Amino acid sequence: MCGIVGYVGSKEIGTRLIEGLKRLEYRGYDSSGLSIIENKQIQHTKRVGRVKALDAALPKNYLKARTGICHTRWATHGDVTEKNAHPHISSDQRFALVHNGVIENYLQIKQFLESKNYTFASDTDSEAIVNLIAYHFEKELEAPDSNRFLESVRKALLHLEGTFGIAVISKDYPDEMICARRGSPLIIGVGKNEHLIASDVNALTHCTQNVVYLNDNEIVHLTAEDFSISTISKVSVNAVIQTVDWDTSDAELGDFQHFMEKEIFEQPAALKNGMRGRFSDDGSTAFFGGLNIQPQELSQIDRIIFIACGTAWHACLIAEYLIERFARIPVEVEYASEFRYRNAPLDKNSLVIAISQSGETIDSLSALKEAKRKGYKTLSINNSVGSSIARECDGGIYQHAGPEIGVASTKAFTSQVMLCAMLALYLGRLRNLSYTDGCNIVKALKGLPKLVEKTLESKDIIQKVAKKYAHYEDCLFLGRQLMFPIALEGALKLKEISYIHAEGYPAAEMKHGPIALISEKCPSVFLTTNGEMFQKSMANIKEIKARKGKVICIASQDCELPEDAIDDLIQVPEAHEIIQPILMSIPVQLLSYYIALERGCDVDKPRNLAKSVTVE
Ligand code: AGP
Ligand code: GLU
Repeated sequence: MCGIVGYVGSKEIGTRLIEGLKRLEYRGYDSSGLSIIENKQIQHTKRVGRVKALDAALPKNYLKARTGICHTRWATHGDVTEKNAHPHISSDQRFALVHNGVIENYLQIKQFLESKNYTFASDTDSEAIVNLIAYHFEKELEAPDSNRFLESVRKALLHLEGTFGIAVISKDYPDEMICARRGSPLIIGVGKNEHLIASDVNALTHCTQNVVYLNDNEIVHLTAEDFSISTISKVSVNAVIQTVDWDTSDAELGDFQHFMEKEIFEQPAALKNGMRGRFSDDGSTAFFGGLNIQPQELSQIDRIIFIACGTAWHACLIAEYLIERFARIPVEVEYASEFRYRNAPLDKNSLVIAISQSGETIDSLSALKEAKRKGYKTLSINNSVGSSIARECDGGIYQHAGPEIGVASTKAFTSQVMLCAMLALYLGRLRNLSYTDGCNIVKALKGLPKLVEKTLESKDIIQKVAKKYAHYEDCLFLGRQLMFPIALEGALKLKEISYIHAEGYPAAEMKHGPIALISEKCPSVFLTTNGEMFQKSMANIKEIKARKGKVICIASQDCELPEDAIDDLIQVPEAHEIIQPILMSIPVQLLSYYIALERGCDVDKPRNLAKSVTVE
């Protein structure tokens, strides 16, 4: 949630900060603000709305500053107003701070500081941090002047409960910046005579490819020439500089209208990248370089627990079907936010796998930490190299799907599903899955990118269907077995970007309640393949039609559908069952995308949402 960018150096600060902030806008976009130090004074500008409003409001003299911080907010405490937008300035006007996260004990801190005559201008939790820093600065008189800024931030952080990624500047230290993290991501961008800080690597790659990922409870002191990291409890830390392999153009729109559209059409390439170099020479299995668990140990696993949120949770549901079917290992799928607070008994040989596109979702990260604390082996499937989740688990599988900017996840989802299929294959081959079955699956997976390309060719048909249904306010998504998670994903996609109320159900569950919603005003999107559930699905479709419900059927090409059973048909190529959920995802994504366009919605930045949910 929220984007942070900070800069110290002598280069063109305005573009560096604003360009960085624009690249982060998908992480939170209700308001934004920027502070610089000029003539030993903190100047700031804030605006409600998008970063372009802030950009237009910035005075020209800002561009000459050497030090600055900026923020795009996803409000947790306090309305979306200018006074609540970050940066927050301490009441003695000495410090400016941007914050990502939630401070749980901010009210106690605020009351204490008010009793010491510090004043508050906003309703946020974040302002308590900046005033607490000012308070400790006053108390740090005995510290050598050069350390006083750093030590007062450090002292303040010791009193915070909750999560934070912060960047602080001070009018008394115009060439310095202090940053720290606990639970919220922060990355240093290492340049030549300049240093940056950002909550996402995306905001750095236009300036440098060299980055340092901060760990929890680390604090960094930055100048243009140098930086040093220590823990909040004062142990110095050696910085490991890594090179980011993303190209800046990966995070640009190119010829597309929206990132969501771009990312939908990038799926063949994203899938190819995810499978590259991961099939065995004999063509019967997959393997992964970074699992850090020996095959022998993996073959002893008695149970797998998947943890995730949102779309990634839907990918876990598919993993459950596939791993149980092909590897015969019992699988459970948990909402990370529930798992982390439940005292779930885990068997000795349990493996916990987190799936997360961003690798920063706080619920998934915390659930993973909880599993580790209990002594379980942990893995992750994630799309962000160096992310908190990637670093927290024992091993993992990187998706290599490229940056996903659209808030609605698309290519990251299909890539997660593909990797789950490959994991099911790998685990299956360590157990009872035959060589021939393995080879058939590998063949199907290798053919997947081409079939996705073919499915994308139906975009015009899907756009026509979207036009016809864009005015409805309710919609059901139904499917059986492997189509059920896609029904859930379809409903989530539609509601998050078009604000149409949508629900996903296993098709047979419909008659246990949701059928009450069916009428001319509530269409159903029905997903079916020609597998063993086909006849049962047909019976469910008939039940909808008998109640005057409209049916948009997304079906594999080999399904023979009675004409009177459906109102609109979207076909996908027939394929091996292991890749069918991926092919079915494509029309579901495009349908939501075109419906949202038709309704004039801001597809990439839907209301109330943000890309990476780093608050609870
Ligand atoms: C997807 O369309 C959503 N915006 C959201 O559900 C997302 O999948 C979820 O927040 C999990 O994110 P992660 O994969 O980065 O952990
Ligand atoms: N909790 C802070 C606020 O409400 C920070 C929110 C954010 O991460 O954008 O302002």
